[in-house]
Amino acid sequence: MPEITVGRDDSDLEEYGEEFATAFIGKHIVGEQQEAHTANPLHLDIARPHVMGIFGKRGTGKSYTMGVLAEELKQSEEKVKDNLSTLMIDSMGIFWSMKNPNEDDAVILDHWDLNPQQIDIDLYVPEGHVDTFREKDIQFDRTFAIKPGDLNPGDWALAFDLDITEPMGVLLERIINDIRDDKGKTYTIENLIDYAYSHDDFEDNVRRALINRFERALDWGIFSVDAPDVEELTGRGNLTVLDVSMFEDLSGGWSARTLIVGLLSRKILRKRMESKRVEEIEEMEGIRTTESPIVWMLIDEAHQFAPEEGETAATNPLLQWAKIGREPGVSMVLATQQPNKLDSRILSQMDILLTHRLTAQNDIDALGNIMQTYMQYDITEYIDNLPRQDGAGIILDDNSERVYTVQIRPRLSWHAGGTPSAVKQERT
Ligand SMILES: Nc1ncnc2c1ncn2[C@@H]1O[C@H](COP(=O)(O)OP(=O)(O)O)[C@@H](O)[C@H]1O
Ligand SMILES: [Mg+2]
Repeated sequence: MPEITVGRDDSDLEEYGEEFATAFIGKHIVGEQQEAHTANPLHLDIARPHVMGIFGKRGTGKSYTMGVLAEELKQSEEKVKDNLSTLMIDSMGIFWSMKNPNEDDAVILDHWDLNPQQIDIDLYVPEGHVDTFREKDIQFDRTFAIKPGDLNPGDWALAFDLDITEPMGVLLERIINDIRDDKGKTYTIENLIDYAYSHDDFEDNVRRALINRFERALDWGIFSVDAPDVEELTGRGNLTVLDVSMFEDLSGGWSARTLIVGLLSRKILRKRMESKRVEEIEEMEGIRTTESPIVWMLIDEAHQFAPEEGETAATNPLLQWAKIGREPGVSMVLATQQPNKLDSRILSQMDILLTHRLTAQNDIDALGNIMQTYMQYDITEYIDNLPRQDGAGIILDDNSERVYTVQIRPRLSWHAGGTPSAVKQERT
């Protein structure tokens, strides 16, 4: 049966073929609606970096599809896997369940010649929230945190939603400069609070307001002077799941998530840029292993991290990934039910779009705008003709300039989706 490989251009097809270094994500659907049936296997290129979007309205399979891709990245052939590392930003707290095989769908999996299988993820939970996970009996592997010293005044300003030119912003910048002079990069939030107190050249209410923000940030439970470094979070062949679902009930909770994602993406990109230089030298000497793995970052509910309106601490780092990431080798997969609400500068960088059923016209238009050139019909028609079954979608591939209707394969590992938070439901 002829295979379909999306995201791979002709010269790579010639070099690697249709299957090597791909993710088996589903099957091509031929025919429309009631007549639709699945045909050829559909693969997704993982040899090259991509910027991919996964869309669809609530409950249409976005997180599920992201899980399929994560399984494939983790299970790819040794030679490929060793050069890859997958980092899943789990906004909903649902991917811990990948540690369990999908026994419930054993029969369906069998139709696909697949078996239920647990996936070996490394589940990281925020240091300040371990008790919640323990109480709910969710097995995690490690804790993560970020170092206050790694954050710039600009990061804090975005997280606290304040202007760097207003008095509070000026004070913020001042204390960070002071503390860096005194302590370098090793300081705590408590240190920052002390520095703010002692700045009596600022009005009392300004100091109080800033201290108040820092005190609230302490409640996020994500700061520590000994946080794991990016090398640990992006080990070769690893699938690291960062559960960032815990901040829902906390004031400024989304700020905590965007700080984490912003900081990590900045560090990973920097690391890959350094590695790339070394690799170029090694390539000349005939060495083929990458210096550090190519990182795939998968982000669920992505519009919260890089919204079309407003800026978060993750906006710029993610925009950088999307714009220049292909060269140093970082891939990004963003899932959202509202492509229209995702930063359009990032949207326009996407080379692979996978969309499940979407109904809001402005969301459909947002996709149509970036992929118009090679589509025979309006994107609305493709979406309208989708069979009404879970996991059906269309793929728009900028590399081959083609559109495919796809049925995403069933998950090998258990999908806890639909559950709003990991800690609110356990497997019984
Ligand atoms: N490819 C698929 N095969 C079988 N069932 C699927 C598939 N994709 C989604 N589903 C079903 O749809 C439900 C909702 O999918 P989910 O990915 O959680 O939705 P959302 O788009 O809101 O992230 C899943 O729990 C699962 O039961
Ligand atoms: Mg989801």
